[in-house]
Amino acid sequence: MLVDSHCHLDRIELGPFGGGLAGVLDAAAANGVTRLLSVAVDLESWPALARLTEPYPQIALSVGVHPSEEGGRAPTVVELTALGRAPRVVAVGETGLDYYHGADRADRQRDWFRVHIAAARELGKPLIVHTRDAREDTLRILAEEGAAEVGGVLHCFTEDWAMAERALELNFHISFSGIVTFKNAKPIQDAARRVPAERLLVETDAPYLAPVPYRGKPNHPAWVRPVAEFVARLRGETLERIAAVTTANYLRLFGLRAEAA
Ligand code: NI
Repeated sequence: MLVDSHCHLDRIELGPFGGGLAGVLDAAAANGVTRLLSVAVDLESWPALARLTEPYPQIALSVGVHPSEEGGRAPTVVELTALGRAPRVVAVGETGLDYYHGADRADRQRDWFRVHIAAARELGKPLIVHTRDAREDTLRILAEEGAAEVGGVLHCFTEDWAMAERALELNFHISFSGIVTFKNAKPIQDAARRVPAERLLVETDAPYLAPVPYRGKPNHPAWVRPVAEFVARLRGETLERIAAVTTANYLRLFGLRAEAA
C-alpha cells in the first residue's frame, strides 16, 4: 500500500479518467496507491474540494491558502480553525513562503504563514509547508511561532540535506515528489538518502511535477509509485519497505487509522 501524501485532486483534468474522480482513484489503486491527502490552496475552492472528495473515505483534506495565491480571501485564525474542525481535515496548509513566485508579496506571505501556524496549534493538527527560495525565513518563522509543537511536513522538498536536518530538528517530516527523479536533482537525492525512515513521506503534488519517465505530462496520484521506487533505489531498500514506512508515517503524522472509514 502506498500513500500520496500531497495532491490537488480538484485540479486534475478528469477527461482522461472517464470524467470522474473515481477514474483517478481506480488508476491509483491499480498501482497500490490507496490513501491520499488532497491539499487546499485557497478558501474559495474549499467547499467544492470537500464536495468532490466526500464519497471517498480514503481521501483526507487540509485547509489553507498557498503562499503564491494572488487573489482571494486572506486566511484568518478564526476561519482556518472553523474549517479545520471538519472531521476529514487532518492538516493546515499548504502554507509557507515562496520568494520565487511572489517576492513582491513577501510581507503578506510571512503574515499568512504565522496565521496558519497559530491555527494549526489551536487545532492541534500538523502543518503542510511549501518553501521556495525562502529557506532562512521559513525556518525562522517555524521556530518563532512554535510550529514544532504540532510538527508537519516540508512538502515537495527541493532543498539540500542541511535544510532537511534543520527541519527535522523542528519536528518536521520531509516529503519527496517527482522532482527527486529529475536528472539535476543531486542535492535533493542526497537528502532523500539521508532522511531517517521515520520522517520520510512521498507525494505527487499532482497535477504538477510528474516524475521521470512521465516528466512534463499532467501528473496523477498513481505516479507516486515511480517516486517511491526511485527513493527506494536511492536508499538501497525495497519498494515494499519504502511503502510500509511512508504509509506508517502518514497515518501517524496525520492521526489517521489504518482502515479508512
Ligand atoms: Ni501542492
